[in-house]
Amino acid sequence: MRSKFLLLGLTGLASANPNHLKHNPTTTITVIETPTATPTPSSEPQFVSDTLFRDTILNSTNSYRQEHNATAVRYNTSLAEFATNYLFSTACEMKHSGGPYGENLAIGCSEVQGCVELWGDERNMYNFRKGDFSKETGHFTQLVWKDTTDVGCGRKWCGEDKRWYLACEYWPRGNVLGEFVSMVQETVSMAALPRDSRPAVTMGAVIGLGVVMLLV
Ligand SMILES: *[C@@H]1O[C@H](CO)[C@@H](O)[C@H](O)[C@H]1NC(C)=O
Ligand SMILES: *[C@@H]1O[C@H](CO)[C@@H](O)[C@H](O)[C@H]1NC(C)=O
Ligand SMILES: *[C@@H]1O[C@H](CO)[C@@H](O)[C@H](O)[C@H]1NC(C)=O
Repeated sequence: MRSKFLLLGLTGLASANPNHLKHNPTTTITVIETPTATPTPSSEPQFVSDTLFRDTILNSTNSYRQEHNATAVRYNTSLAEFATNYLFSTACEMKHSGGPYGENLAIGCSEVQGCVELWGDERNMYNFRKGDFSKETGHFTQLVWKDTTDVGCGRKWCGEDKRWYLACEYWPRGNVLGEFVSMVQETVSMAALPRDSRPAVTMGAVIGLGVVMLLV
C-alpha cells in the first residue's frame, strides 16, 4: 500500500572513520506523513513473519536492482543479526550503527515494501549523469549499488506512534565517493525519456492524522 507523503530533508555528517575515509555515510532524514492508518500495524505480516519479511526485502530490493542493471542481492543472516542486535541495543531513535556495512534506516513503517520503496523512489531525485552522493538520494544509491551482493535487515516495533523501525545492512557497502557513475546505473527506459517527462517526486497533501516517518 502506497501513501502520499511529504519529504523534508535534514542532514548531519557522521564522523569519518579512518578506514572508511572515502565512504560518505548516508545520513538522510526524511519526514514522512502518511494519511493512511493501518488498524493493527504491530501485527503487520510483512514485519511479523520472518519468511515474509525476508522475502519482501529481497523482492523489493532486487526489483529496484534489476531495473538499474545490478545483480540480485542474497539475504545474509550475519547482516540481519547485526541489524537486529543494533536495533535492540538502541532506543527508537534514528541513529546509524557506525558499523562496517552500508546501512539504510527508516522508522514509521507500516509495512516493509512501502518502506523499501521510499528508499528506491529517491531515484526520481537522483542525477545519474553527475553521479554523486546526496542526502536526498543516499538510500537509493545504496539499494542499487552494483558491487553490493548481500543484504540483511532487522526490525523493531516502536509503539503506535513510531511504528516499525527498519534497519538494512548492505555488504560490500555502497556510496563510495568517486564510484557513483559506474555503480549506480540509470535504467534504459529512464535514460530514453526526455528529462522533463521523467516521474517527479510525489509531494502529497497530508490528509488527516499523520504518522511521522524518519529515514536515516
Ligand atoms: C516486488 O517489489 C516491487 C517493488 O517494491 C513491487 O512493485 C512488486 O509488487 C513486488 N512483487 C511482489 C510479488 O511482492
Ligand atoms: C549492465 O551492467 C553490466 C556490468 O556492470 C554491463 O557490462 C552491461 O553493459 C550493463 N547493461 C546495460 C544494458 O547497460
Ligand atoms: C555475509 O556477510 C559477511 C559480511 O559481513 C560475509 O563475511 C559473509 O561471507 C556473508 N555470508 C555468506 C554466507 O555469504
